[in-house]
Amino acid sequence: MRSHYCGQLNETQVDQTVTLCGWVHRRRDHGGVIFLDMRDRDGIAQVVVDPDTAEAFANADRARGEYVLRIVGRIRLRPEGTQNPNMPTGMIEVLAKEVEVLNTAATPPFQLDEHGKVGEEVRLKHRYIDLRRPEMIEKLRLRSRISHSVRAFLEGQGFLDIETPILTRATPEGARDYLVPSRTHPGSFFALPQSPQLFKQLLMVSGFDRYYQIAKCFRDEDLRADRQPEFTQIDIEASFVEEEDIMAITETMVRQLFQEVLDVELPEFPRMPYADAMSRFGSDKPDLRIPLELTDVDDLMKDVDFKVFSGPANADEGRVAALKVKGGASLSRKEIDDYTRFVGIYGARGLAWIKVNERAKGLEGLQSPIVKFMEGVVEQLLDRVGAEDGDIIFFGADKARIVNEALGALRVRLGEDLDLYTADWAPLWVIDFPMFEEDGSARLQALHHPFTAPSCDVETLKSQPASALSRAYDMVLNGTELGGGSIRIHDLSMQQSVLEVLGIGEAEAREKFGFLLDALQYGAPPHGGLAFGLDRLVMLMSGAKTIREVIAFPKTQSAACLLTEAPGEVSAEQLRELNIRLRPKAKGEAAGE
Ligand code: AMO
Ligand code: AMP
Repeated sequence: MRSHYCGQLNETQVDQTVTLCGWVHRRRDHGGVIFLDMRDRDGIAQVVVDPDTAEAFANADRARGEYVLRIVGRIRLRPEGTQNPNMPTGMIEVLAKEVEVLNTAATPPFQLDEHGKVGEEVRLKHRYIDLRRPEMIEKLRLRSRISHSVRAFLEGQGFLDIETPILTRATPEGARDYLVPSRTHPGSFFALPQSPQLFKQLLMVSGFDRYYQIAKCFRDEDLRADRQPEFTQIDIEASFVEEEDIMAITETMVRQLFQEVLDVELPEFPRMPYADAMSRFGSDKPDLRIPLELTDVDDLMKDVDFKVFSGPANADEGRVAALKVKGGASLSRKEIDDYTRFVGIYGARGLAWIKVNERAKGLEGLQSPIVKFMEGVVEQLLDRVGAEDGDIIFFGADKARIVNEALGALRVRLGEDLDLYTADWAPLWVIDFPMFEEDGSARLQALHHPFTAPSCDVETLKSQPASALSRAYDMVLNGTELGGGSIRIHDLSMQQSVLEVLGIGEAEAREKFGFLLDALQYGAPPHGGLAFGLDRLVMLMSGAKTIREVIAFPKTQSAACLLTEAPGEVSAEQLRELNIRLRPKAKGEAAGE
């Protein structure tokens, strides 16, 4: 039906006759002449319809915004003075010979260039219209180029694209499962995969050696800007490898991707042990574009006359940390109050501060609600954080977890508010993760997943599980965890020991992952891998603020699809077939509770 996309037209084609198909972006009447801005996925071209071509003119006259038209016309240069250098097709226009209305359109719920005036809900409900916006098309086009580049790289490195099941058993990645009832096995359920983790390990046992998949994963967890219940991983696994091999391959992949798609040369990927990341940045995914660091001051605060500080300074799990912000003394009381409320979200009970107005004046030159309690250590404190005139120092004192989360988040927020960024891109590898973390109960949880190999032997693991480190690695970019992986356990007795430390008894282990334990007995090679979040990668590369913007049909914060109104109710008959009886909703109970 068409000869060219609208966006492909330019002045080298003057006098050619072209056929365009697309949507009416805008229609203007100008003294008897009709101008149609025709839009398709490649761009916008201006079409002029003259009353001399009577039939074309009548059709153009009837066309409204978002009508679908087919246009035959001749390309000509726009008259001097009407050219638009800001538009790729701005030097030319198409003089229409024929205008055919292929379909009409009701008035859309929002004008494409006024999408900012309606809430995201309206855009998601009419996503097919929202996706007509050039910015959205650009993001999905970038997404397509990214997956193409990744596939080409991995195929070139000998990785095989192998699909793994969607209807499966629970795969423990730490989130809740989405369950699917089985009709043929009444009372039994499939789980949708949280990742292809166990299947990719089985493929290594089979000898495929190098596997990849651009795989859909499903996790029923609390959603944020960088989390969706259904998302996509670039999933990778290889045999006879160590950490260095996987890190080298995936780092090269990401480097080439940035080079090819964005023409960006990524800087070095420094390596940072988890413990350093937590202590210096309060986060296991530090944003290294921001030149702010936490400084431990526990030793100085042990004997101060301020319980809020001396308490955590003397407690095993406590931490007192300082965050110096250069030039921050100009922050107003209101701004400091806002930051105090902000750290409250992370459980901090306050945000003490010292403004350094004039160091030479000693205590007189400082302004702070807390220096009076710590006069004896103030000089040491200022020296340790390298305070200079004009700086502000913030403090967090509490359980280490709370201080890290609160000051870690404050650091990122300050970086954004004060525009402290020192680079466009700051990648790194975080390594030497602990094997386990405490989950509040006495039980230990796997920090990554239970198939990650420890860097110690079975005896050490069993005797000192809390201090065992794993062979896991995360790739972090600009404060976002892009991907994570590890060398896996390929030895049955080690796998059993890890499950034991996790408090998973033999019977439970057999029931949940008997198939993996069996496979480990039949010649499992040493293996390891990594999975990237494709949505997060596209978000960062496109400059989007959330992964919803780079997913064609995303779900809302409450894990619903506004377009299809999924999840939806099902008929009594379907439920009966599935052997499911619904508990009647209690009074006042909302759906989903
Ligand atoms: P992990 O759970 O770290 O590891 O996931 C790997 C990467 O997937 C992305 N990701 C998400 N993206 C969007 N929405 C979500 N809800 C979401 N959850 C995770 C992140 C993350 O880094 N099987 C292991 C990988 C391995 O060991 O090889 C796994 O799934 O970018
Ligand atoms: P108060 O003694 O409650 O008036 O607190 C004095 C200062 O210490 C205020 O600036 C509080 O915001 C701050 N503060 C209180 N609790 C903490 C805490 N756990 N960590 C850091 N600062 C705190």
